[in-house]
Amino acid sequence: MRIPALIDPHVHMREPGATHKEDWASGTAAALVGGFTQVLAMPNTDPPVVDRVSLEKAEQLAVMNARCDFSLYLGAGPNNLARTAELAGKTAGLKLYLDQTYGPLRLDAMSLWQAHFRTWPKDRPLVAHAEGRTLAAAILMAALVDRPLHLAHVATREEILLVRAAKQRGFKVTCEVTPHHLFLTSEDLTGGWGEVRPRLGTQADVDALWAHLAVIDCFATDHAPHTAAEKASAESPPGFPGLETALPLFLTAVHEGRLTLDDVLTRMGDNVRRIFNIPAQPESWVKVDLDKKHTLSAQGMHTKAGWTPFEGWDVHGAVREVMLRGKTVFRDGQVLAQPGYGQRIR
Ligand code: NCD
Ligand code: ZN
Ligand code: ZN
Repeated sequence: MRIPALIDPHVHMREPGATHKEDWASGTAAALVGGFTQVLAMPNTDPPVVDRVSLEKAEQLAVMNARCDFSLYLGAGPNNLARTAELAGKTAGLKLYLDQTYGPLRLDAMSLWQAHFRTWPKDRPLVAHAEGRTLAAAILMAALVDRPLHLAHVATREEILLVRAAKQRGFKVTCEVTPHHLFLTSEDLTGGWGEVRPRLGTQADVDALWAHLAVIDCFATDHAPHTAAEKASAESPPGFPGLETALPLFLTAVHEGRLTLDDVLTRMGDNVRRIFNIPAQPESWVKVDLDKKHTLSAQGMHTKAGWTPFEGWDVHGAVREVMLRGKTVFRDGQVLAQPGYGQRIR
C-alpha cells in the first residue's frame, strides 16, 4: 500500500568532520531506504554549525551530496547569541544541548539558555536536548519567555509525565520519542553497544512511553551513527543508527496491535510538518508491504555505522519503493537517487 513520504526531524549526518561514521550520501541513502524523503540534520558536526560560515559550508556539502531533501539546524553556542536570529529563516531550527552528549555544544549557564530562548524568533522551531531535571527547567524557561519548545528524545516515565502535565497546563511544548526508547531497555545491549543519550530506560519507562502515546507528537530516529569499532571500544561514543529500522519496527507494532498505522503516520509526517513548518512534497510517497516478514540486520544497510541495535529482530513490514518529487528514488533494495538530488527545504 501507499503511505505519505516520511520526515525525520532528528538525524546526525556527520559531514563535515566525521565522514567515516556517515556522510550526506550514505546517510540520505539510509533515509530513503527507511521511507524518509526529508531529514532535519543536527549541528554537532566538526566544525559545529553555529554561524553563517559553518552553516554555509555544511549546506554546500549537503547540496552536493544529499539524495533526499534536508534542512540544517543551527547550534546555540556561548558566542553566537547576537547572530542567530538573522540566520533563522535558512535553518530547520535552533538546537540547544542542555546536557552532556556527543560533541562540543553543551550550554552550561542557565542565563545563556534563557537568552537564546528569548532571542530566537518565536515562530521558528527551538529544540532542546534536555534530560530529567533539565527537561523540567527547559519547560519552565520556555513558559517564562512564552515561546514554543520542542523536546528531543523524551525517554523516561518522569519525562513523559512532565510533558503531559505541561501540555495540560497549556504550555507550548511538543516532543518526540525515538524507536530505541520505545523498543529497547537498558538490559538489551551490553557495554558500549548500549551507550546512547538519553540512556535506555527500564521496562517501566518503556511502558510509560507506550501508555502515553497521546502525549508523543513525533517519532524521530535520532540517527546517530558511530562505527562498530568505536562502539566496541572502551570509550564508546553515545548514539545508535536508526533510519533503516524505524519504519519496520513501527509497522511491526501496528501488526501486533500496539498502535494504528495512522498513529505512526501522523507522528512521522503531519505532526512533524506542522511543528517544524515544513511544506509537503509534491508527488512523493512510499510503497510499503505490510505483510512482508524479514529479519533486521546491519548487513546490506546503507549507513556507514555497520551495526544496528536491532540485529536479528524479526519484523513485519518493509519499504518497497519510494517516490520523491516525481522520481523513483528507491525500489526493490536499490537506491536510485544520486547524491545531489536532494534539495534544501528552506
Ligand atoms: C548523538 C550523537 O551521537 O550525535 N548521540 C546520542 O546518543 N543521541 C547526540 C544526541 O542526539 O544527543
Ligand atoms: Zn540529543
Ligand atoms: Zn541526536
